[in-house]
Amino acid sequence: MSELVIHNARVMTCDPARPGLGMIDHGAIAIAGGAVRWVGDDADRPRGDSTLDAGGRLVTPGLVDCHTHAIFAGDRANELAMRAAGRSYLEIAAAGGGIAATLGPTRAATDGELAALLEERLAAALAAGTTTIEVKSGYDLTVAGELRLLRVVAAAARRGPQRIVPTLLAHLIPKERAGDRARYVTELCEELVPAVAREALATSVDVYCDEGAFTLDESRAILGAARRVELAVRGHVGQFRDLGGAHLLAELGARSADHVEQIDDAGIAALARAGVVAVMLPGACVQLRLPVPPVEKLRRAGVAMAVASDLNPGSSYCETLLPQLWLATTHYGMTVEEAWLGVTRHAARALGLAGPGTLVAGAPADLVLWRCDDPAAVPYRYGVAAQLIERVHVAGAR
Ligand code: NIG
Ligand code: FE
Repeated sequence: MSELVIHNARVMTCDPARPGLGMIDHGAIAIAGGAVRWVGDDADRPRGDSTLDAGGRLVTPGLVDCHTHAIFAGDRANELAMRAAGRSYLEIAAAGGGIAATLGPTRAATDGELAALLEERLAAALAAGTTTIEVKSGYDLTVAGELRLLRVVAAAARRGPQRIVPTLLAHLIPKERAGDRARYVTELCEELVPAVAREALATSVDVYCDEGAFTLDESRAILGAARRVELAVRGHVGQFRDLGGAHLLAELGARSADHVEQIDDAGIAALARAGVVAVMLPGACVQLRLPVPPVEKLRRAGVAMAVASDLNPGSSYCETLLPQLWLATTHYGMTVEEAWLGVTRHAARALGLAGPGTLVAGAPADLVLWRCDDPAAVPYRYGVAAQLIERVHVAGAR
């Protein structure tokens, strides 16, 4: 087992046992067998079989994107044009746009076409430092079709190189089922969720609990079904209206509450008490011109915040976390430290993962060597990954 030692590095460990970002200014890291073997002061570094001089630059954990809808076909650039001309998300949905507009092309695409589209997006994410990525289903909305999407995701996960975390998303009631909502929800609870668990096609179930999507009671039923088959739960809540989703997620011990543009003080307190991660999706928020979530209140309450791309064809066609770091710091008022924890350790926590998102002994050797030495330089120069990133390793391999 050959050991690579990266030395003369500014290592951002994100080690929970160290304060802040766990920076080691004159640091080194030893990796072997796909894992971090040692991390510490450069002066104490092991010898290793090969060495890499980082030139004093930043080494961070590989980025973790904990919220994407990366499997879909078609595009909705026309909606950007409509929004730019002043139409709202809900108006666009009423005119046949929105999530429903992605169902047709996704259902019509073959497995091979969906796999190719997914792979292209995963490659773009990897080039921008994302070594762990969550992928939600949600653009078919039939039982068989959602299972098909998750099987395509599972095949991509087997091919690698990234770590892929699959999620079943109860995204919407499709138009053809609008007349029998109750039966559709029962089908999700009694057929789809158990089938996903049986085939181990997802580790968690997410529900879009908002105006125009699932009600609080429907969300409770779907997430309850997930808990019964021991799947973790998450939710898209309060993007447009606060339906009380944060309380439901806290009560169910959810991993995360995502969006939360609309959340009241009691909802924030509930997330804090239950240790639910709040996932910030600033790209989608800006594109839809929504109000900024109450970051200062979340911070004061001690809610861990993650930051994700929300990669999707409607509100955020963006494969990378770099613009999200920029928006998190510049538009959301998160500190540089909060933004970095949001795309590393806290994002991993939202996915139920302990090792990824940190550089500590025993964690997977997922890391990024940057072309800068200051963590603030990354959200600062947010546009082009190639200017910022020197190399990316997943499980030790470049
Ligand atoms: O996270 N809010 C619901 N779902 C997506 C948008 C999906 C779409 O517009 O296609 C989101 O923003
Ligand atoms: Fe989303």
